[in-house]
Amino acid sequence: MPTPQPAILEPNPPLARFLSFSLHSVDGIEHCLRELQELVDGESIVVGFGESLVRTLGHSIDGLRIFPAMTMPGLDIPSTPAALWCWLRGSDRGELFHQSRLLVAMMMPAFTLADCIDSFTYDHKRDLSGYEDGTENPEGEDAVNAAIVKNRGAGLDGSSFVAVQQWLHDFETFDAMETSQQDDIIGRHVEDNEEFDAAPESAHVKRSAQESFEPEAFMLRHSMPWAADTQGGLVFVAFGHSLDAFEAVLNRMVGKDDGIQDALFSFTHPVTGNYYWCPPMKQGALDLSALGI
Ligand code: HEM
Repeated sequence: MPTPQPAILEPNPPLARFLSFSLHSVDGIEHCLRELQELVDGESIVVGFGESLVRTLGHSIDGLRIFPAMTMPGLDIPSTPAALWCWLRGSDRGELFHQSRLLVAMMMPAFTLADCIDSFTYDHKRDLSGYEDGTENPEGEDAVNAAIVKNRGAGLDGSSFVAVQQWLHDFETFDAMETSQQDDIIGRHVEDNEEFDAAPESAHVKRSAQESFEPEAFMLRHSMPWAADTQGGLVFVAFGHSLDAFEAVLNRMVGKDDGIQDALFSFTHPVTGNYYWCPPMKQGALDLSALGI
C-alpha cells in the first residue's frame, strides 16, 4: 500500500533545516539515491526531487515542472531550480546540524549543497510578522485530498508535489506601519486572527481565498519562519496533488488576474522559487520505482 511521506500530513516540528542540492556528477547518482532511500523515513526527513534530477535519471513525472519566474510592475518572482530538496525536521538544533553534515557527506559523490536554511516555529504557528499562518489549512481527509496524488498508479499514488519559496521580510518597513495598515495587508486582525470584510482587495487572504478559485485552489501549507543574523522571513512550503493550485494563487497574488497585487509585497518578497516531486513510501522506505530505482 503506497503512503505519503508521513510528515507531509503532520504538524510542523519546533525546528527544521531546509537543504537543497545541485547535481555535479551523473556517475554517482544512483548510489547516492539508494543510500538516501535507506535513510529517509519521511518523518524526520522529507525529500523532493527537482525536474533536472528526474530528467537526468531518464524519466519524467507528469505535472512536475520548473518554477515559473515572473516579472510584473515593481515585482520579480525568481525561479531558482535545484535537483534535490530535503526538509530536516526535529527539536534539537545540534542534531539537525549533525544530520545535515551526514547528509551532505553521503550525497557528496553526486550532489553539492546549494542552500541551507535554518527554520523554526514561532509562537506556535506565527509568521515573524506576528500573524498566525496556516489557519485555513485543510485538515484530515481534506488535507489528504489537497496534498496527495491518487488514482495515477503504482509509484505515483501517495506522492506529492511541493512549492518552496524563501521570503525575505523588510521589518523596518513593516514596523513603521500602524497595526491597522498591517491588518489590511493580511486581511486579518493580528490581535484575534479574525478575518474582516472591510479589508482591501489587495489583502493577502482575499487574494489567496482557496474557495474563490475555479477549480478551488486548496493546498497544504507547511511554511516556517527563518532567521540568519538580523535577516529573517518565511520559508513558504505548500504541498499539493499537483502544482496548479499554488500557481493559480501566486498568479493572482502578483496581479495577473485583475492587476491587483497582493499587499504582502509591500514588506516582503521571495528570493527563491522551487518545485519538487516528493515520492511516496512503500514498506517504510522511499518508493523510487517511478524513477526506475
Ligand atoms: C511571506 C509570505 C507569506 C506570508 C507571511 C503569508 C501569510 C499568510 C497568513 C497570515 C494567512 C492567513 C491565515 C491562514 O489561513 O493561514 C495566509 C493565508 C493563505 N496564504 Fe499566505 N502567506 C505568504 C505567502 C503565500 C504564498 C506565496 C501563497 C501561495 C501562492 C500563499 C497562500 C495562502 C493561502 C492559500 C492562504 C489561505 C487563504 C484562505 O483560503 O483563506 N501564501 N497566508
